[in-house]
Amino acid sequence: MNRITALFDIKYPLIQAGMVWNSGWKLASAVSNAGGLGLLGAGSMYPEVLREHIQKCKKTTDKPFGVNVPLLYPDIDKLMQIIIDECVQIVFTSAGNPKTWTSYLKDHGVKVVHVVSSVKFALKAQEAGVDAVVAEGFEAGGHNGREETTTFTLIPMVKEKLDIPLIAAGGIATGKGMLAAMILGADGVQIGSRFVATPEASSHVAYKNLVVEAEEGATELTLKELAPVRLLKNKFYEEVKALYQTTPSKEELVNLLGRGRAKKGMFEGDTEEGELEIGQIAGIIKEIKPAADIVEEIITEYKNSVLPKF
Ligand SMILES: Cc1cc2nc3c(=O)[nH]c(=O)nc-3n(C[C@H](O)[C@H](O)[C@H](O)COP(=O)(O)O)c2cc1C
Repeated sequence: MNRITALFDIKYPLIQAGMVWNSGWKLASAVSNAGGLGLLGAGSMYPEVLREHIQKCKKTTDKPFGVNVPLLYPDIDKLMQIIIDECVQIVFTSAGNPKTWTSYLKDHGVKVVHVVSSVKFALKAQEAGVDAVVAEGFEAGGHNGREETTTFTLIPMVKEKLDIPLIAAGGIATGKGMLAAMILGADGVQIGSRFVATPEASSHVAYKNLVVEAEEGATELTLKELAPVRLLKNKFYEEVKALYQTTPSKEELVNLLGRGRAKKGMFEGDTEEGELEIGQIAGIIKEIKPAADIVEEIITEYKNSVLPKF
């Protein structure tokens, strides 16, 4: 038992990240049943869709699970109401100010974790009263900070200052990666990209196949003037890159991005025109396999790892 397994009442300190268009009830309940903590990604769900996923999760696992809420979500009051009505016990917030919702959630008995990408914001989250912090490095898939601090450097720096439990995210997909993060000071890990390549992820198989095919260098953090996001290099990414050659205004970038690009790419499988979010660690992901097998493999490799001698 450690601070993270005790906080969430789970077997392994391994959290499956909330991910838009990927982490619905099938993935979250599979990971929770396997001994980790599964998270529903509310960022791509209408409020009533989230309710449905919570109810399905309750039916398919008797283990703890949580919900990830990006704080930029437009109808956030409705999401939070559903979370309270449905007695969700754990919420991971991201992309916004942790002060806005932490006390409300905690007053309703919810455990709150906030995602950050710097020491400064880790301390702000602690000050806001969260139970734990996810520190996410530059390698991570999805939206990210502008700091470009890698997981390898971020974790020890946050650890030095933070008192509450620390969860490392970004570039972790194996037992050895998890061990490295824990040795650097993390109490647990949050893993996103690895869980995209599972049959349980709700995303399109064409996108999952590209994740499996991706090699080192296949992604880039871009659109920093909007919300920085790490993208798989596809036709849409090339269009973004071409536009950058012309020193575009923010408005031009917004126009190119348009609406619904992430859904188009990850959910509908339009791998040319859509936005495909994934982390640098995609380069190590070689097959689509069940989430429970991934959890078991990571934990077994973690436990069997020996420190290199010299
Ligand atoms: C496809 C995808 C979608 C994501 N969507 C979200 C999201 O909705 N909310 C969030 O807080 N983080 C999101 N993330 C970031 C993850 O929560 C997680 O921190 C990150 O994936 C960890 O790095 P890794 O991809 O190297 O494992 C997303 C990541 C990916 C790959």
